[in-house]
Amino acid sequence: MKYLVANWKAQMTLPLITAWVKDFKRRIEKNEQIKIIICPPFPFTIYVKEQLKDTPGVAIGSQSLSVMAQGRYTGEVTAEALCDIVTYSIIGHSERRSYIKETEAMIKTQIDRARENSIKQILCVRNAQDQRYPKVDMVAYEPVEAIGTGINARVTDILYMKKKLSLPSDTLFLYGGSVDDTNISEYLGTNEIDGFLVGTASLSAEKFCAMARKISE
Ligand code: PGA
Repeated sequence: MKYLVANWKAQMTLPLITAWVKDFKRRIEKNEQIKIIICPPFPFTIYVKEQLKDTPGVAIGSQSLSVMAQGRYTGEVTAEALCDIVTYSIIGHSERRSYIKETEAMIKTQIDRARENSIKQILCVRNAQDQRYPKVDMVAYEPVEAIGTGINARVTDILYMKKKLSLPSDTLFLYGGSVDDTNISEYLGTNEIDGFLVGTASLSAEKFCAMARKISE
């Protein structure tokens, strides 16, 4: 099983998502070997879930979640609110670490909140210095220099980092950073990479479905 995660970041609007969903449904081919996880911006989460509820192999994720538990916290989106809508949550993405100043303590709390509410965690790490937490469901290695730059990391470097991370054997290992339909095949020759976290290329349903197709070939 390979995981293909779409991280739309703050790049989508309702009209763009409506068009994306239509295009995706037309293009995506059924494949039991791939799990697709779509992570829309919060306001569109339930819409995307509804639209794709009959598309097999698709799950919904969030791009983050609040460190706060349900309560009087204006503007926060809690794990309690998300858990009936999403199956997964990205946690600790490098953009949140740098722009929102999320700390390791906040990331740990988010992991706990997700776990308490049965949301599977996709923890992003930038390097071997970032904390790993026991028992997260997935770790996505995302070197900052590869994110959104078009300079995707080499398989050997990714596998070297995986070794350094020394993850528990039941933790799934993803790679993210400029993966697209033209380079995904580079990563498919090894069983060591369980999937991909895709930003830019996931904004096009055509490219995203082409990636899914390459995985199934
Ligand atoms: P990218 O983003 O595919 O645009 O490099 C990946 C990510 O930040 O998750």
